[in-house]
Amino acid sequence: IKYGLTRFANDCILFYLHFTQRHYFFRILAVSTFAAVTKYLFICRPADNLASHYRTIADECHNINDAFSDLCSPETKLKGLVVWVTGASSGIGEELAYQLAKCGSRLILSARREEELQRVKQHCLDNSNLKDEDVLVLPLDLLERTSHEEKTNTAIQYFGHIDVLINNGGRSQRSLFLETSVEVCEALMELNFLGTVSLTKQVLPHMTQRGRGSIVTVSSVVGLVGAPLSTGYAASKHALQGFFNSLRTELTDFPKILISTVCPGPVQSQIVNNAFTEELNRPLATVGSQEHKMPTSRCVHLMLVGVANGVKEMWIAQQPFLLFYYAWQYAPTFAWVITDWIGRKRVQNFKFGVDADSAYFTKPKTS
Ligand SMILES: NC(=O)c1ccc[n+]([C@@H]2O[C@H](COP(=O)([O-])OP(=O)(O)OC[C@H]3O[C@@H](n4cnc5c(N)ncnc54)[C@H](OP(=O)(O)O)[C@@H]3O)[C@@H](O)[C@H]2O)c1
Repeated sequence: IKYGLTRFANDCILFYLHFTQRHYFFRILAVSTFAAVTKYLFICRPADNLASHYRTIADECHNINDAFSDLCSPETKLKGLVVWVTGASSGIGEELAYQLAKCGSRLILSARREEELQRVKQHCLDNSNLKDEDVLVLPLDLLERTSHEEKTNTAIQYFGHIDVLINNGGRSQRSLFLETSVEVCEALMELNFLGTVSLTKQVLPHMTQRGRGSIVTVSSVVGLVGAPLSTGYAASKHALQGFFNSLRTELTDFPKILISTVCPGPVQSQIVNNAFTEELNRPLATVGSQEHKMPTSRCVHLMLVGVANGVKEMWIAQQPFLLFYYAWQYAPTFAWVITDWIGRKRVQNFKFGVDADSAYFTKPKTS
């Protein structure tokens, strides 16, 4: 409620400033204040507090009125649900598996590398109360769209239903468009966009039949803003945003189906190692330290708090990236100026063989 009210107040101020033709300074001030307040309420002071707050409410409601029990922490809301995670063999998907296992969710783990999925499964079993039969390893290639119907049927036959699909599998890009073959852009759209759409197409009818379920898609900060070295990647994530925003509105007759998109900023994972470059199958020459990025566990925790509380779009990032989202949304001219300024530096570093991301910070961030 606090978040909604803050956002509504901010929109009113910006609306007023826009129509009274006030100077950009006031708009930037409004956006900065909103970002700071939001960060304080939702992102920074964090969801840890939000989660424990909801847990307290849920406990009280259990005694007073069960009707309020849907205000929950991930542990309360996701316990026992069947959650299908794609890209579960590393990074964000792997951490999702661990935190969901601790919440008591039953899991379907998918990616291409079966041995990595078995490793993740074993770690889940060793660190939670789940039993062997609660975790299904289901190898899947998002590019093999003809297999998606069969994989979905296997998952449904095994658990009887799917409560949550987390479309997380995907790859990024580190290359200048002028030097990049069109096949790379095609591969990014095939994997990040069409692979996700194809799996959603199989799972969604099952959810509409039951009248409930959640489809959570891991987009990116570049699903909302532009970034050099990531033209094809940004296009694929923008496509996902447009697709799921439209789908959500098509599903207004199904109020218990949540369509949620998650837009993380830089997060520690294998994403840079696995990024597409100028040509298909050419690995990235330099991968710098990932320490300055948001820890994977932090990103996933915030994501699960959002999912448990039905948040339709989540922006999850440390500063200054979070401020960047707000600038793109509320003060685009200003955003273009800083994008050009930072982007030029990013491109120069890339040309000199320095990891594009690590160049922004000198001091590692730990939380
Ligand atoms: N890390 C970040 O900074 C960041 C920021 C914003 C958004 N994201 C998004 O977060 C998601 C997860 O990325 P990550 O950061 O965790 O990177 P990651 O560590 O490289 O994990 C990517 C996952 O995707 C899977 N995958 C790749 N190609 C696949 C295919 N053809 N079919 C099925 N699975 C495939 C990989 O498994 P296999 O190789 O075993 O198939 C792996 O499990 C991606 O959608 C990414 O765009 C990441």
